[in-house]
Amino acid sequence: MIPIIKPYFGKEEEETVLEIIKSGQITRGRWTVEFKEVFKNYIGVSYCHTICSGTAALYIALKAIGIAKKEDVVIVPALSFMATIDAVYMAGGTPIVVDVDESYTMDVNQLAEAVEKYKPKAVIPVHLFGQTAQMDKIKDICKSNGVIILEDAAQAHGAEFKGKRAGSLGDLSAFSFYASKNVAMGEGGAILTNNPEIDDKISNWVEFGAHPALNLRITEFQAGIGYWQLKRLEETNEKRRKIAGIYSSEFDDLPGLVLPKEFPGRKHVFHIYPLRHSKRNQIIEKLLENKIGARVYYDYTLHQLRDAEHLPCEFSELAKDQLFAIPIHASLTEEEVEYIVDKVKNVVKTV
Ligand SMILES: Cc1ncc(COP(=O)(O)O)c(C=O)c1O
Repeated sequence: MIPIIKPYFGKEEEETVLEIIKSGQITRGRWTVEFKEVFKNYIGVSYCHTICSGTAALYIALKAIGIAKKEDVVIVPALSFMATIDAVYMAGGTPIVVDVDESYTMDVNQLAEAVEKYKPKAVIPVHLFGQTAQMDKIKDICKSNGVIILEDAAQAHGAEFKGKRAGSLGDLSAFSFYASKNVAMGEGGAILTNNPEIDDKISNWVEFGAHPALNLRITEFQAGIGYWQLKRLEETNEKRRKIAGIYSSEFDDLPGLVLPKEFPGRKHVFHIYPLRHSKRNQIIEKLLENKIGARVYYDYTLHQLRDAEHLPCEFSELAKDQLFAIPIHASLTEEEVEYIVDKVKNVVKTV
């Protein structure tokens, strides 16, 4: 089976893990310090906290900006991994769900409507599949209404909006370094911000002392692996973009197949290569028979999954029934890409 997602490791990750074992310093050592430093510099922000998962990063980010009770409304998009909405519930707030547009990111017209109607404290734009949300419009809407922007950048390491990296575009951001992500540590996450007050609040939640806190640290192993993953990120993202380019030109005229679009000013890093087709389930079945790891992304919308209050989310509901993904990662060989192209073409023409 060609896996849909596979981490891409080199000898540096291997050597670093061994070095950490031999050193005896397996947590709170040089790699955790170094990773934080290189990650915040890469994204282009002043403060970074590493956290044990993307979900925990979202949760702490929400606590740090004061989400605590039902009246604290947070706007989320209908299409995302469920952690985006679950973090709001876990923090004690109330999520309101809005639709996504053709970029699979938050519909900014609906965001404006929801801000007017629900007076939220925060909004979580998700840079889904590796492409940023429309951050200039989102900022305009939020700034004039005093709404805090928490970017969910779990799928967007290295993605850009008008030349600035995902994770540096809002008031604060949350990343995941789960095994499948463009920077993979197994498990892991980070919260980033340029705001010293928010940074202090995050510290109080994850460092013992000021008030009751949680230990959500990552180990030296995770940080050491993440360090090298980050070093090769530009290269691995380029590889993803190249494969996406091949797929998109080869699949251009396939009947009924909707390809992902890279919108102007937004650099897509193709964490996922999302396709849409009304016979998606049949296509996936045939691709799996051919040992290609295709799968549905996502088989739920967040408002339906958690029975959350929402604006009309017709596009997300359609996407839920039609979206699927085929393998895209830096470990794919040219032969595998050719094989996938060939099979996808055959399958789509015959369903
Ligand atoms: C958009 C999004 N948000 C949040 C998360 C949660 O991250 P984690 O799995 O590291 O908890 C993920 C991924 O898993 C994700 O894809």
